[in-house]
Amino acid sequence: MAEVIPIAADHAGYEMKQRLVEELRRLGYEPLDLGTHSSESTDYPAYAHDVAERVEDGTAKRGVLLCGTGLGMSYAANRHKGVRAAVVWNDEVTRLSREHNDANVLVLPSRCIGDDEAARMLRTFLDTPFAGGRHIRRVEGIDAEGGA
Ligand code: RB5
Repeated sequence: MAEVIPIAADHAGYEMKQRLVEELRRLGYEPLDLGTHSSESTDYPAYAHDVAERVEDGTAKRGVLLCGTGLGMSYAANRHKGVRAAVVWNDEVTRLSREHNDANVLVLPSRCIGDDEAARMLRTFLDTPFAGGRHIRRVEGIDAEGGA
């Protein structure tokens, strides 16, 4: 069965999200499009919480968010336990967000990157495994009281 991947954007990320929904389908995933569904101005936090809640409760293993800078979406998503939402701006950062940080939500800054770059970063996010090893301790330290 195809993996369901929740994806959402505000108005700034709407057009790019539409492209990525198609890309997810092309890659054999089942995108769960949680909005927004037009370019009309809307507030990003609700979309971030909707995707992050699904990752937090295990309904989804990973998710995708887009807004103009990626920042607002990441602030909101990272309030959720176990969610590691990474704002990425190139392929290298995307790869490292998986290998070193075990990112489980990809956050794309739609006003700062192009559609082709976004699609490439999406593929890198989906295909790159967590490296484990010394990074396990560091990732576990994120949620530890007072550090690792
Ligand atoms: C919307 O204008 C913009 O503020 C939003 O997309 C995002 O960049 C917020 O962090």
